[in-house]
Amino acid sequence: MENLSIIGLQWGDEGKGKIVDYHAGRFDGVARYNGGSNAGHTIVLGNRTYVFHLLPSGLLKGKRLFIGPGVVLDPLTLSEELDLAKKEGIKLDLTIDGRCTLVSPFETELDAIIEKARGSKALGTTRRGIGPAYAMRALRVVPRAMDLASGSFDLTSAKALYSLFTKDVPDLTGWLKSASEVIRGRLGDVGASILEMNESGKSVIFEGAQGVLLDLIHGTYPYVTGAHTLASYVPASLGIPAKSEGKVLGVAKAYTTRVGSGPFPTEITGRVADSIREIGKEYGATTGRPRRIGWFDLVAMKYAVRLNGVDEIALTKLDILTKVGEMKVCVAYKLDGREVTEFSSALPFIDRVTPVYEDLQSFLGLELTRAKLPRAVDAFVQHLERELKVKVSLVSIGEERTATVERG
Ligand code: IMP
Repeated sequence: MENLSIIGLQWGDEGKGKIVDYHAGRFDGVARYNGGSNAGHTIVLGNRTYVFHLLPSGLLKGKRLFIGPGVVLDPLTLSEELDLAKKEGIKLDLTIDGRCTLVSPFETELDAIIEKARGSKALGTTRRGIGPAYAMRALRVVPRAMDLASGSFDLTSAKALYSLFTKDVPDLTGWLKSASEVIRGRLGDVGASILEMNESGKSVIFEGAQGVLLDLIHGTYPYVTGAHTLASYVPASLGIPAKSEGKVLGVAKAYTTRVGSGPFPTEITGRVADSIREIGKEYGATTGRPRRIGWFDLVAMKYAVRLNGVDEIALTKLDILTKVGEMKVCVAYKLDGREVTEFSSALPFIDRVTPVYEDLQSFLGLELTRAKLPRAVDAFVQHLERELKVKVSLVSIGEERTATVERG
């Protein structure tokens, strides 16, 4: 079986954790390839809810886990997650790539400093040091995991460079010791391990973090994350050949959410938005911030599908819409009196476009079961398939692993 890339098609929080966990049973490993502890991947098992920021979502299925070299790794967050897994009796088989960029308190402080300096134009980052860590990597001042393991990281020289960015460089002596302990005995070459698995007939899920519209280049810049979120980044960031990427499964919510600042053409406020937020538990898994709510946006979704060569879509959170008396899909944007259907031509003006909606039959009161989707829900799913020209192979109708419908 070929590998599978699972990526977010909106602004993150599409429910990737649940979908990775659902599919993980059929695969032999799960690898994180981008972002860092800004991600919050939620898995619900019975009455337990697990949120992981760095550990790949295959951990509850006992799969081989990889943190690839394109991830910016906060060793202290990882340490907390390893402790939690131990407490829960979860056995882990984790390999961290030695090339991972490490995130230290210097980068998290820099994140806060830059956000403060932006004032009313703050991005609303997760304050996990993600942008600064990628920037410092580009400037080649930040250590990789292997530099700590080999003892070659020179804190004194690093401090001299860090002080170019802030007067109050945090004391990193304690961090260095703890970070070295966390990564000790866990380092390896993730790309080589994945290829070895593939050669022996085993396959791996590549678990994306954030979503297409938060991509550093293709998203709603500057209101984006510091990493690349597209499927095409999978091979480069893991160190595997492009052809090993496998199938691309895009995950999208049946509505849209966004956490943090930035343009959001289909955003709604008021009673319907508040209901969706409460019923859908739309609060940031990493920061607890209320998520902004909006309708499904076909213009943005067509862009996301095109950029990623999406093979199939998993559509999540349909159950939430059965508690809401309205149902809309955005089919175009209005810009200076004309209709625009191409996201990239709207991008330079994205903060002032208004959505053109198609009203659909509401899902209010419909019962969603695995046996059969109600007609209105099926019509919505088929409508998306026609517009996006991609099969919706999976529909999520609840937070539990079992509340998942495979469409033949
Ligand atoms: P950063 O990734 O912490 O730099 O934050 C940049 C933007 O991406 C902010 O709007 C964050 O709220 C958003 N963001 C980062 N990670 C996630 C995520 O996992 N889900 C949703 N939004 C995210």
